[in-house]
Amino acid sequence: GEQATGSAHAKVILLGEHAVVHGRPAIALALPHLRVTVVATRTTGAATLRTEEYAGPLDRAPDVLGPLVTAARATSEHLGCSPAGVDLAVRTGIPVGRGLGASAAAAHAIVDALVKLHGSELDEEGRFDLVQVAERVAHGRPSGLDARATRASGALLFRAGRSTPLPVALGTSLVVADTGVRGTTREAVADVAAFVERSPHRGSVLLDRLESLTLAGAEDLAQDRREALGGRMTAAHDMLSELGAGHPALDRLVEAAVGAGALGAKLTGGGQGGCVLALAPTPEDADRIVDALESAGAVGSWVLPPAASGAAP
Ligand code: PMV
Repeated sequence: GEQATGSAHAKVILLGEHAVVHGRPAIALALPHLRVTVVATRTTGAATLRTEEYAGPLDRAPDVLGPLVTAARATSEHLGCSPAGVDLAVRTGIPVGRGLGASAAAAHAIVDALVKLHGSELDEEGRFDLVQVAERVAHGRPSGLDARATRASGALLFRAGRSTPLPVALGTSLVVADTGVRGTTREAVADVAAFVERSPHRGSVLLDRLESLTLAGAEDLAQDRREALGGRMTAAHDMLSELGAGHPALDRLVEAAVGAGALGAKLTGGGQGGCVLALAPTPEDADRIVDALESAGAVGSWVLPPAASGAAP
C-alpha cells in the first residue's frame, strides 16, 4: 500500500544533564550518525507495529514498546485519523538505555511517518508535544531536551522547555563511547532528586555549579576554547557522580580518555551506565582516544567531527 518514511537521530548532552530537570540549562548536540527510521504503510486491518523484538497488533505490543504505541496513538488522534489501517515498521540504529535519546528519536520518527502518510502538516511545537506524551511513558517527567535535540541539527541550548540554536566554532572532535551498561534514566533522575532532597545545601551548590559550567561551555563552543571546555566536562562528570548519576564503568572510560590525551571527559545523558563524551585536542587525536576507550571496555564509539558538532543549526 501507500507508504511514508519518517526519521530522527540520536543526541548527546554536552553539559547540563540532570541539572536541566531542576530548571537549569543544558547543551545538546545532534548525533546524526545514529538514526531511527519508521516506514508507515497503509493496510486494511488493525494497526500493527514491527520492531526488532516484536511484530504484531499495536494493541498487544509489550510494555517496553509503550512509548512507541503512545506516539502512534497520540499522533493519530491529533491528526483526527484512526490508528487502524496502518503498519509501522521501526528500524533503529540507536542503542537504548545509553542516554542517546533512542526513545525520543523513535517517537519523532513515528510522528513524522504518520504526518507524511496522512498528507498532513505539523509544526515543530506540535511534534514536540506529541513526542513529550510518549516520553512521559518512557521517563516519567522528561525535561523535553531529548524531544528537541533528536530533531534539531547542530547544537542547542535548552532551558525550561525552550531551545535555541547555539553557534559552534569548535575546531575539534568529540568522541562518544558506550560502556555497554544499560542505565535507566528514570532511576538516575530519581536518585539525583533523592540526593537533592537529602542534602539540599550541597545539592543546590552542585546544581548551581553545573549551571555555571553549562553557560560558560556555551561560550567555549562559540570561541573554540577547547582546554576550558574539556576542564568543564571533567568537572561536570565529578559533580554528576556525586549527585548519584555515576557508575564505575563510566569512571573507567573517563580515565581512559583523559589518559589518551582527551582534554576532558564526562558521562552523557542519564548516567548510571550509558555513554561518555570526550573532547579530543585536535581531530587527528580522535582515533587514539577511540582505541583507548575500546581497550578500556567500550562496546561502541562514534566520532563527532568538527563539521558535525559545528553544523549551523
Ligand atoms: O539522555 P537521556 O535520555 O538518558 O536523558 C536525559 C537527560 C536527563 O537530564 C538526565 C533527563 C531529562 O529529562 O532531561
